[in-house]
Amino acid sequence: MSDLIFHVLPGGRLTGTLRVPGDKSISHRSIMLGSLAEGVTEVSGFLEGEDSLATLQAFRDMGVEIHGPEQGRVTIHGVGLHGLKAPSKPLDLGNSGTSMRLLSGLLSGQAFDVTLIGDSSLSKRPMKRVTLPLAQMGAVVETTEGGTPPLAIKGGKPLHGIDYAMPVASAQVKSCLLLAGLYADSPTCVTEPAPTRDHTERMLRGFGYPVKVDGATACVEPGGRLTATTIDVPADISSATFFMVGAAISEGSDVTLQHVGINPTRIGVINILRLMGTDLEVLNEREVGGEPVADIRVRGSKLKGCVIPEDQVPLAIDEFPALFVAAACAEGETLLTGAEELRVKESDRIQVMADGLIALGVDAVPTPDGMRIQGGTIGGGEVQSHGDHRIAMSFAMAALRASGPITIHDCANVNTSFPGFVELAAGAGLGIALGG
Ligand code: S3P
Repeated sequence: MSDLIFHVLPGGRLTGTLRVPGDKSISHRSIMLGSLAEGVTEVSGFLEGEDSLATLQAFRDMGVEIHGPEQGRVTIHGVGLHGLKAPSKPLDLGNSGTSMRLLSGLLSGQAFDVTLIGDSSLSKRPMKRVTLPLAQMGAVVETTEGGTPPLAIKGGKPLHGIDYAMPVASAQVKSCLLLAGLYADSPTCVTEPAPTRDHTERMLRGFGYPVKVDGATACVEPGGRLTATTIDVPADISSATFFMVGAAISEGSDVTLQHVGINPTRIGVINILRLMGTDLEVLNEREVGGEPVADIRVRGSKLKGCVIPEDQVPLAIDEFPALFVAAACAEGETLLTGAEELRVKESDRIQVMADGLIALGVDAVPTPDGMRIQGGTIGGGEVQSHGDHRIAMSFAMAALRASGPITIHDCANVNTSFPGFVELAAGAGLGIALGG
């Protein structure tokens, strides 16, 4: 595959009112639940990125009639909980861990066999975290010896409800088990060690399927049904993050991000940026289809380093690549701990970010579960994103404060979550161009 390169000129500032693409987590779930519902579900604001399109294609491959996406609009002709058909080939989920982990649960409850495959990054990611509890429910899901994809799921296995205490705070694991629980013969309860995103619980309810939540435990009972609905997907706070950080680190910036999802399980980035002294306003708070939404205004700020509270880690789990860039621009030290999960994302985000920051002259020290960053100046240079979309976009924003141009390699996967990033960022004032 050819190397898509971002060339980013140093300096500048970000201004304007922008809308970033739809939330990735909610987009995936809209296709999954819309497909399993009875009736026609209309989605707007759908993320037309490769990850959510992989989920969409998987359901088409299982016989669901889906129209779109066209300018974010998708129409799903739901087939009901038992209406999916065996696909004629393995389902290719590309780079998308969310697709694979959620589908492993949902498909364990079907009558047919199915195999899930992914790209070279997804093929290295840990799947035992879902296959072990699924096995306790009676599912049969084979992985490689190392616990990685492909996943071979045997159909027609009766599932039993379990009461599962998750060892890691993972919304993907929680969602996987709740989706399997729709097909079990008794209630399924999942307890999380710390709050994680709750889009599955909210959306199940939106489709009329009861979910009981008591403290850290979410339970579903079998025997219900999903009724088609309409879904307005908010802009993705994880994509908005690049502009929030870009604006915060560059003097004279003033950016308003519109219609951003501010679900309380996703707002760690707002809390951490505020802790670092960012001038950040949350405006026009409203609720859209069961999810809180707001406009977020960020202005150039004098940032200070901080100790990131561990309770914020799951609430900002996808935002650390960008937050590391903010830390590199802050006065003093920033310390992140309790974030070992970053090592098993689309890349090892602790090592890959540390390598890139060090290449740009930043004093960054990776630790097993986080990073220590001494803020200061950022130099120009060349960094590797290792095919990780969020690493590529984070280093692009770093150029706003760099003393020389930054070249970022392996950027094609930005399209997994943020199609149009280069155009939107260039329009807001970033000196970014494509090479290859
Ligand atoms: C996601 C959950 C998170 C997140 C991922 C999307 C989801 O993963 O990193 O980008 O949609 O459920 P974990 O739950 O494994 O931390």
